Amino acid sequence: MRNVLVTGGAGFIGSNFVRYVLEQDPLVRLTSLDALTYAGSLDNLKDLPDPDRHSFVHGDIRDLETVTDVLRDHRIDTVVHLAAESHVDRSILNPAPFVQTNILGSFNLLEAARLAWGREGVIPSGSCRFLHVSTDEVFGSLGADDPAFSETTPYAPNSPYAASKAASDHLARAYVRTYGLPAIITNCSNNYGPYQLPEKLIPFMFLNAVEGKPLPIYGDGQQVRDWLHVQDHCDGLWRALISGRPGDTYNFGGGVQASNLEMVQRICSHLDQLLPTSPSCPHASLIAFVADRPGHDRRYAMDSTKARTELGWGPAHTLEEGLRETIEWYLQNAAWIQALRSQPSYEDWLRENYEMRESGQ
Ligand code: NAD
Ligand code: TYD
Repeated sequence: MRNVLVTGGAGFIGSNFVRYVLEQDPLVRLTSLDALTYAGSLDNLKDLPDPDRHSFVHGDIRDLETVTDVLRDHRIDTVVHLAAESHVDRSILNPAPFVQTNILGSFNLLEAARLAWGREGVIPSGSCRFLHVSTDEVFGSLGADDPAFSETTPYAPNSPYAASKAASDHLARAYVRTYGLPAIITNCSNNYGPYQLPEKLIPFMFLNAVEGKPLPIYGDGQQVRDWLHVQDHCDGLWRALISGRPGDTYNFGGGVQASNLEMVQRICSHLDQLLPTSPSCPHASLIAFVADRPGHDRRYAMDSTKARTELGWGPAHTLEEGLRETIEWYLQNAAWIQALRSQPSYEDWLRENYEMRESGQ
C-alpha cells in the first residue's frame, strides 16, 4: 500500500487528482493536506470514490511542524505537491503570500521529506517519491514563431507567481542533487475542467456570461495559451510518479493553442447553443476589452515529446469536447457554485477580485 500525501488536495487540480488516483489504483491511501484558503473547499472532495482510502488534514505548509507531523503520522512515502497560491493577477496585487506558500512552504515540504525519508529504518528510501508540480510560466513568454518550451528551456519567469514557482523548482532540483531526494518535477500548461475556481479565465468567463455580466479581455486578447484538460494532467502526474525517473523533469501540454479571445468566443458559442433562450444571446456581445495585465506573457506552448515517449502519456480530450464537457459540468453543478458563494471567504474573494480589476490589473 502506497501512502500518498496530496498537498492542496481541496483545490482544483488536487481534488481532481485525489478522484483520479482513488479510481485508478486500489492499493493507494491518500491524505490531503490543505489550509483551505479562499481557493480550497471541502466541497471539492465530496462524493469521492472509495472515500475510506482518503483522509483530510486541515493544515498549512508554511508550518514545518505540521508538515513533519503529517509525514510521520500518516507514514507518507509519496508526496504530490500541489498546494500553492496559483493566480497570476493576485500575485501582481500582493506577492507576499506567493513567496510564503510557494517558496517557503515548498521548502518545508522538501525539508520534512528529506528528514523523514533520510533516517534509516523508517521508510525504505528506494520506494519514496516527491512529485513537485510546476507550471510552464517559469519559462517566460514565447514569440509567435518560437518553438514550444521543452524540459531544457532556460527559466525566465515574468510574474511574481511564476518567479515563486521557479524558485521552488530550483529548491526541488537542489534537494535531488545535494541530498538525493527522489524528486520529480513536472511543468504543465493552463489546466481547465471541473472544480476550477471562477477566478481563472474559463470558469470566470462562463459565470459572467451566464449572469449577463461583461467578459473582460485583457489587452488585445491575442495572448496564446496551451489548454490542458485537468484529467489529462492528473493522468500525466500519475504516470510520472509511477514510471518517471527521480531527478528528471517532464512537460505536459494539451497540444492545443488558442488565443484568449478565441477561447472566450468558443465559451460564448457553446452557451448560445446550450442556453438559446438566454437574454444574453449572443453571449459574445458581452465581450469587453480592458487594460492589459502588467508583464502579460504573450504565448505559452509545451513540447510534451518526452512525456509521450518515456511515460506513454498523451491527452485524451480534444479542446472542443473538453470545453463543452466543462461548460456542461458548471451548468449541472450550480449547487457547487452556490456553496462556494456561501463560504465566508467568498465575499472577501469577490471584493478582492473587484478591487484588482478596478486597480487596472
Ligand atoms: P488552486 O488555487 O485551485 O488550489 C490550491 C490549493 O492549495 C487550495 O486548495 C488551497 O487551499 C491550498 N493552499 C494554498 N496555500 C496553502 C498553504 N499555505 N498550505 C496548505 N494548502 C494551501 O490551484 P490549482 O490550480 O489546483 O494548482 C495546483 C498546482 O498546480 C499549483 O502548484 C499550481 O502552481 C500548479 N499549476 C496550475 C495550473 C493551472 O492551470 N491551474 C497550471 C500549471 C501549474
Ligand atoms: P488565467 O486563467 O488567470 O491563467 P494564467 O494567467 O495563469 O495564464 O488567465 C489565462 C489568460 O486569460 C491570461 O492570458 C490572462 C487572460 N485573462 C483575461 O484576459 N481576462 C480575465 O478576466 C482573466 C481572468 C484572464
